[in-house]
Amino acid sequence: MTKRRVGVLISGRGSNLGALIEACKAPEYPAKIVVVVSNVPRVQGLLRAEAALIPALTINHEDFASREEFDATLDKGLKDAHVELLCNAGFMRLHTENFVKRWRDRHLNIHPSLLPAFRGLHTHARVLDEGAKITGCTVHFVRPQMDTGPIVAQAAVPVLPGDTPDSLGNRVLEAEHRLYPHALRLVASGAVRVEHEHVVGMTQIGEQAPFFSPPLDEAL
Ligand code: GRF
Repeated sequence: MTKRRVGVLISGRGSNLGALIEACKAPEYPAKIVVVVSNVPRVQGLLRAEAALIPALTINHEDFASREEFDATLDKGLKDAHVELLCNAGFMRLHTENFVKRWRDRHLNIHPSLLPAFRGLHTHARVLDEGAKITGCTVHFVRPQMDTGPIVAQAAVPVLPGDTPDSLGNRVLEAEHRLYPHALRLVASGAVRVEHEHVVGMTQIGEQAPFFSPPLDEAL
């Protein structure tokens, strides 16, 4: 099987990167990570990449005068590694429109809410403020506007009495670690594609999608 060549963009802890690294170890998984790029030096995610013997680059955004120059250098790093698919995994930087255009429909992001609800930062605190009873996470194709784009997969997570932003965030993060490998499998295998700004195709190949995570009867 030909594995699609994946680049992962990070800015910090890299726990989603860790989940993707684990998934890529399976011989039948249709993707392999060929480069990890961080825009922040010395973050934990870079150590995860090194431990897995994956080439890791730091492209510090502070070294660049403009977003365009940063994105051009990033793009070159990805091209040099022959990246075919790009995964943002906790990458805390907005891309230029040109960069987004160049990677259109080959570029995924994970966001810790059920989009289109709760785009942006401080998601879990806002979910709690609103009194929402269910939240979750979303993997979507990247578009110029933050946290928008065709949705590949989602997992729902219950909000429990007494939750704090941290406790809720940890529960959502566990779901993220199941969802991202699932979504990347769908895209890398060619099971799904974007048509008229919707993801269509076989959205359920492989193991059961993590729709409700943990299963509803365990959560309540
Ligand atoms: C995750 O919650 C992700 O959804 C969001 O940033 C966080 C990154 O966590 N975009 P990690 O670096 O993958 O541990």
